[in-house]
Amino acid sequence: MTLQADPERIRTHIECLAKYNATPGYGITRMTFSEQDREARAYLLKEMKSLELSIQVDGAGNIRARMEGCDPKKAPVMTGSHIDTVFHGGKYDGAAGVVSALEAMRLIRDAEIIPDRPLELVIFAEEEGPNFGSPLAGSKAMIGLYTAERLKKLVNEKGKSMYEAAQDAGFYPDRLIEEVKRPGDISAMIEVHVEQSLVLDSEGISLGIVSGIAGMRWAKVTIRGESNHAGATPMRYRRDAMAGAAELVSAVESAAGEFSNTAVATAGKLICKPNVPNVIPHTVELYLDVRDVKREGMLRVLDRIKREAERICKKRNLELDIDIQGSTEPTECSDRIIDSLKKAATGRGIKYLEMTSGALHDTAVLASITDIGMLFVPSIKGRSHVPEEETAVEDIAKAAEVLTDTILQLSSC
Ligand code: HGY
Ligand code: MN
Ligand code: MN
Repeated sequence: MTLQADPERIRTHIECLAKYNATPGYGITRMTFSEQDREARAYLLKEMKSLELSIQVDGAGNIRARMEGCDPKKAPVMTGSHIDTVFHGGKYDGAAGVVSALEAMRLIRDAEIIPDRPLELVIFAEEEGPNFGSPLAGSKAMIGLYTAERLKKLVNEKGKSMYEAAQDAGFYPDRLIEEVKRPGDISAMIEVHVEQSLVLDSEGISLGIVSGIAGMRWAKVTIRGESNHAGATPMRYRRDAMAGAAELVSAVESAAGEFSNTAVATAGKLICKPNVPNVIPHTVELYLDVRDVKREGMLRVLDRIKREAERICKKRNLELDIDIQGSTEPTECSDRIIDSLKKAATGRGIKYLEMTSGALHDTAVLASITDIGMLFVPSIKGRSHVPEEETAVEDIAKAAEVLTDTILQLSSC
């Protein structure tokens, strides 16, 4: 029996989730443990309960909704994504994967199929990182990389830690230690995600099968100089932190292309103090994002940026601090999963492209405890992390069908 996904049902879920948004009219903003996150969770929990999935939420706020299989003792096949967003992001990043997983569960339920292994729909907390400053924090907590103690150190701009926010949301971070997932606990993890670049859309291909996921380092660079009167202080007497930061930002851009043609580096956030036009800045905090699918490339770019920062600060008599705030290693997807995805796509006559992911994903974190795979759906005009993010629901439906066939196939082995 060939199970058919329903694009209109997918559209409804995407549009409903998009309503839980702190910045209507200016993209989607849904921070972990915010009011909008709580509403989106409630919407999805209602949908998952209507499919008679049993719900568990761990101490970091990761949701797992389980469909029992013939053999409950077997490790489950897991699929899902995240519902938190960047500030003013799009309505498909994360949501497309959660909704595809929900659609797969519904197709299996409606067809009254009982999988051999249990199936679990997962919704990871704090994937994006702009809230508590470290991407993939929920999935890292799920596998024990982030402990309750570590969540206490992830503090947002209002001074609230992810630990406290999880407690306020009704979860128990101190229980994380007993909930850690280890090798053997999960049989496979597959995520459907928007591509967030323009390859599939420009080539007119509706499905990507991911072979590898980039690694990343998030660094907070603090440059300290000295404030003074912007009008009265001659240029030769200045220790201007912003001028040093500006030089470093252009060094970040040139370092990216120096060692690897797949490395990328971005200075995406800057905090200037005191941030007043007629005062020379005494401190600038620069937040860097360095990535590559090749570990060597990523580390060499990061090292070059560190050495450039030291050179610039020495020349300008500025102080420098570099703090690595987040890191994931480049990850290969499992051949077993890739083959299964290819077989399912071919079985449905869906053309696919094998490709790598420059974006990070929770699935990469789970690679240390299970076999992983990812399906991409086209981002129209390659836009993502912006209000203009758009993906055709018909493409998400195709991915949901390939996902359904694959998780059923994987659950039977
Ligand atoms: O930053 C990323 O790659 C992901 O969207 N969190
Ligand atoms: Mn995402
Ligand atoms: Mn994202």
